[in-house]
Formats: sequence, C-alpha cells, structure tokens
Amino acid sequence: MAKKIITVFGATGAQGGGLVRAICADKNSEFTARAVTREPESDKAKALAALGAEVVYGDLSNDESVHKALKGAYGAFFVTFFWAHFSPEQEMAEAKVFAKAAKEEGIKHAIWSTLEDTRELVPLHDDRMPTLRDIYKVPHFDAKGESNKFFSDADVPTTYLHASFYWDNFIYFGAGPKRGADGKLALTLPIGDAKMAGIWSEDIGKCAYGIFKNPKEYINEYVGVAGEHLTGYEMAEGLSKALGEPVSYNKVPASVYRSFGFPGADDLGNMFQIYDEFEEKVNALRDVKTSKELNPELKNFDQWLAANAKKIPVE
Ligand SMILES: NC(=O)c1ccc[n+]([C@@H]2O[C@H](COP(=O)([O-])OP(=O)(O)OC[C@H]3O[C@@H](n4cnc5c(N)ncnc54)[C@H](OP(=O)(O)O)[C@@H]3O)[C@@H](O)[C@H]2O)c1
Repeated sequence: MAKKIITVFGATGAQGGGLVRAICADKNSEFTARAVTREPESDKAKALAALGAEVVYGDLSNDESVHKALKGAYGAFFVTFFWAHFSPEQEMAEAKVFAKAAKEEGIKHAIWSTLEDTRELVPLHDDRMPTLRDIYKVPHFDAKGESNKFFSDADVPTTYLHASFYWDNFIYFGAGPKRGADGKLALTLPIGDAKMAGIWSEDIGKCAYGIFKNPKEYINEYVGVAGEHLTGYEMAEGLSKALGEPVSYNKVPASVYRSFGFPGADDLGNMFQIYDEFEEKVNALRDVKTSKELNPELKNFDQWLAANAKKIPVE
C-alpha cells in the first residue's frame, strides 16, 4: 500500500526537521515525509532528501506554493517563524493561509504548532506586564494562539501542539550562561523560583510523529510537549556539571529582562513572566509523561547537555 504523505513546513529548521527525521528513521512507517523549503538545493534540504524525504519548494509568502505542497497529502505539520520577521500579524496571515489550504486540499490531520494566547491569562488592562504593540502581551505567543481559530473555524482536523522553551536557545539564541565582570558564569532568566518546561528541539518533531500515529486520540486536542520542568537553579546546576565550572542562576525581575534592549527582549520578558506566574497551568499542558509516550526517546536536560554542552558558546 502506498505510504501516506505528511507535508512538513519548516523542514530545514528545528521543529519540522525533527519530524522529517523521525518519519524517515522509521522504515516501517505508514507515512512518508514531504519536506517544504524555499531552497530545495540547499545542503540542509539535500540532507533531508538523502534520508528519503521528498523535497519540494514552498514559501509561506506564496499561497500557491503552500497549496501545491499540500496536494495529495494525508497530513501536514504547520509552523510559522516569528523570529524571522517579528510580526504577529504576519504569523496570523500565514496561519490563515495554512488553514484555508489544508481545508481545500482535504488534509486529514494537521498539526498546528501553536502557543498560548496569553491575553486569556493576563488581559490587556492587567498592568503586571506592559501591553506590547497596543494589542498583545506576548506577541509571538498571542498571534499563534489567536490563529487556532483559523483551523477550528475551517473545520480542519487539527492537533494544537504547544512546544516548550528549547534548551537549544542556550546555543543558538544567545540565552546561555554569560561571563560577568568577575569572570564567573551566570544564567540570567526572569523565572523566579518557578520550574520552566524545556525541551531538546529535536524532540518536538519526534513527539509530533507520535501524534500523527495516533490521530484518534489527538485530533482536536491541545497537546504540550516537554523533556523536563526545571528551575533556574536546576538548569544552572546542570550547566555547571556539564561545562566543568560553576554557573550561577542570576534571577532577575521580568522588568529588568525587558529592559535589556535586544530585539524581542520585551516580548521574551513577558513570556518568562508567564512561565513564572502561571507555572502550574503552563506546565500542566506540557506534560513530560505524555511527551514520553509520544516519543519514547525523549531526553531530559542532563541528556541534552551530554550531547550538546560542547556547543554552548562560553568564552
Ligand atoms: N525557540 C524556542 O524556544 C521556541 C519555543 C516554542 C516555540 N517556538 C516557535 O518556533 C517557531 C520557529 O520554529 P523552528 O524553531 O522550527 O524554526 P527554525 O529552526 O528557525 O526554522 C526555520 C525554517 O523555516 C523555514 N522558513 C523560514 N521562513 C519561511 C518562509 N517564509 N516560507 C517557508 N519556509 C520558511 C526555513 O527553511 P528554508 O530556509 O529552507 O526555507 C528555516 O529552515 C517560531 O515561531 C517560535 O516562536 C520557539
């Protein structure tokens, strides 16, 4: 029997890449991966083709290419790329295109990589954190959460997948430990004493694969994934062991983090404040046990460190 196609957006990136690799690694899979990229000739795209994925051109700014990438597919993994443009409105427009195209192309199971609309937790009039761009609290969360309606309104059979903080941010996103004036390493995060849900980004796609394998259980459901929930102290302790030198947890208020001034600092400051003040709710959705059921290879922070600590840039 012909294998069912899963179209994967963001296939050369973290979330989509993990899913393509998970499908290709399972030789007995009922699915085959169609990897969407703007550059089918890139090294990353060729690496996916070498694993057995079909590589096709697609660009979120080109509706026709989105439709084409979905033609004949059974399932689709949809993710948007906030940090490429910093525009919540663009994310919502792209999600709308995804949902419309999924409906029109008859997608049987979509996974929409969403996040909470934090305005349901902290209404705009609540001044515990600033309102950003007039109508958002955490723009890169709110736009994704608000976009859920495009999928439900269009009646697309959808799983609403909530990722956690990537531990990979300590390598690629400048969020890792920094050396202070005293020469000592410190991990600066505004999460108080809360445990924050985190994950190896590669595991997100592996969990998504588990969702595609269990459509009955997960269609029209909200699912969160995490490898472990850890405090700043616990992450600093893990980093200390893995890096072979002490790392302290520099617990700063969210207001201080927002004032750091790098692009998106205000958005991330509000996000960490949500992780801190709504710890229980945010973590309940991102259940480690469920994530492990979806992906038996799920790694915890120490396992992530064992594989990745050498890549963390500390001078
Ligand atoms: N970092 C975190 O801790 C975290 C946690 C939860 C959620 N998120 C969310 O994750 C999302 C990003 O996912 P990711 O980390 O998997 O992305 P990523 O690793 O940055 O990958 C982005 C990939 O998307 C493709 N892409 C970018 N713009 C595109 C466009 N216009 N059309 C088609 N493809 C495009 C690129 O592929 P080509 O160049 O090959 O086209 C690129 O390889 C963000 O919206 C972020 O808010 C992040």
